[in-house]
Amino acid sequence: MKAWGGRFTQPADPTAEKFTGSLAFDRRLWPQDIRGSMAWARALARTGLLTETERDTILEGLDRVRSELEAGTFPFRPELEDIHLNVERRLLELVGEVGGKLHTGRSRNDQIAVDERLYLRDAVTRTREGLRRVQAALLARAEETAEAPMPGYTHLQRAQPIVLGHHLLAYVFMLARDRDRFAACAARADVMPLGAAALAGTAYAIDLDALARDLGFAAVSPNSLDAVSDRDYLLDYLAAAAVTGMHLSRLAADLTLWATAEFGFVEFSDAFATGSSIMPQKKNPDVAELIRGKSGRLAGNLVALLTTMKGLPLSYNSDMQEDKEPFFDSDDTLQAVLAVLPPLLASLTFRTDRMRAAAGEHFATATDLADYLVRKGLPFRRAHEVVGRAVRQALESGQTLETLPVEDLRRLSPLLDADVREALTVEASLRARAVPGGTAPDAVRRALARARELLSA
Ligand code: ARG
Repeated sequence: MKAWGGRFTQPADPTAEKFTGSLAFDRRLWPQDIRGSMAWARALARTGLLTETERDTILEGLDRVRSELEAGTFPFRPELEDIHLNVERRLLELVGEVGGKLHTGRSRNDQIAVDERLYLRDAVTRTREGLRRVQAALLARAEETAEAPMPGYTHLQRAQPIVLGHHLLAYVFMLARDRDRFAACAARADVMPLGAAALAGTAYAIDLDALARDLGFAAVSPNSLDAVSDRDYLLDYLAAAAVTGMHLSRLAADLTLWATAEFGFVEFSDAFATGSSIMPQKKNPDVAELIRGKSGRLAGNLVALLTTMKGLPLSYNSDMQEDKEPFFDSDDTLQAVLAVLPPLLASLTFRTDRMRAAAGEHFATATDLADYLVRKGLPFRRAHEVVGRAVRQALESGQTLETLPVEDLRRLSPLLDADVREALTVEASLRARAVPGGTAPDAVRRALARARELLSA
């Protein structure tokens, strides 16, 4: 018998029943569903809709349902559509008629919204903890490589020398924004939809503030239609997850690129690489590639739910049942990525010798030569032109800026003296970039301190 069977004369078509059911994916909401129901029972009792004895019978019954779910002995019945009706039916079986009073004044429409918001609260907590662990792993490697020069890139062309620690810290600060984004998402989701019932508001004088306190919500929804129609909290979460995925895909892409023979900047440990079934010599950075790849589904899940929600008339529509799979998939995907990253990062071998050698190549300090001329009074645009010509001359004669005879340089500009050699070194180039956020040793040390603070906050 369906919970809503009264007005129906025909049984559900098996294909329709299978098609409309959500138990396969909403069953994971059982801890939240039971928590919400227990709070609802207490609220009903506070309003006089349940006697204290009835309330306690229901609470004890829900406790037994919880034990069955925990023990894996709960009889899941897909024909009962979803987790809400499964829990309620089981309660009825365990405590009898009085269990039928639990659904007084509420609807699955406000019930699912409260379950999801409770679930989201935990999802945000584990995501923020996971992000912090990735930050800590990055920070540890950044401390170690704060003075290791490497080429910095723009357009994937060698641009200027930086230090590896500076590059790694970029990700630490990116992930700090992600953590903030998830925190903001949880703060905005901290509103209780119960009391909205189906759409118009419950007809019973439930003390919603007390109920919100019971469930740990900061506020009560100010509009019942919005309460059952809103899925912004999931969209916020999915958006934050998509951005985080994008960030981590860039980190994974850097590592994958650096692991090529062409770069040779990093070696993955065997524990975080895989081989080829045909090419015996191969060692593939699969873990990093998959981190990069999984950003696709994180972005896709956001677009999926946005597309589902777009154009839906108020208030609840069954389309919204499609919100759960993208949400849970992003949660699972994020947790998996965040779990594998810290040990992966810890196991990397950075080839700082190769990075060091590459840092000064390909005219990486040409900007420093222009800056040298500027300090001697030449307008920057003129200095740019002079250095451009010096680079061309060096390219034509197979030299570098450092090996180009000083006389040749002086022909390009009389402002160039012998001390220019020192200005062209990688060390001088790094030292010059001492602004806050720059790659100079002091600036990186300050950034490390700031990152450490972020992590201990
Ligand atoms: N399983 C439903 C969902 O996930 C619960 C709410 C359904 N409400 C309804 N009137 N069919 O959205």
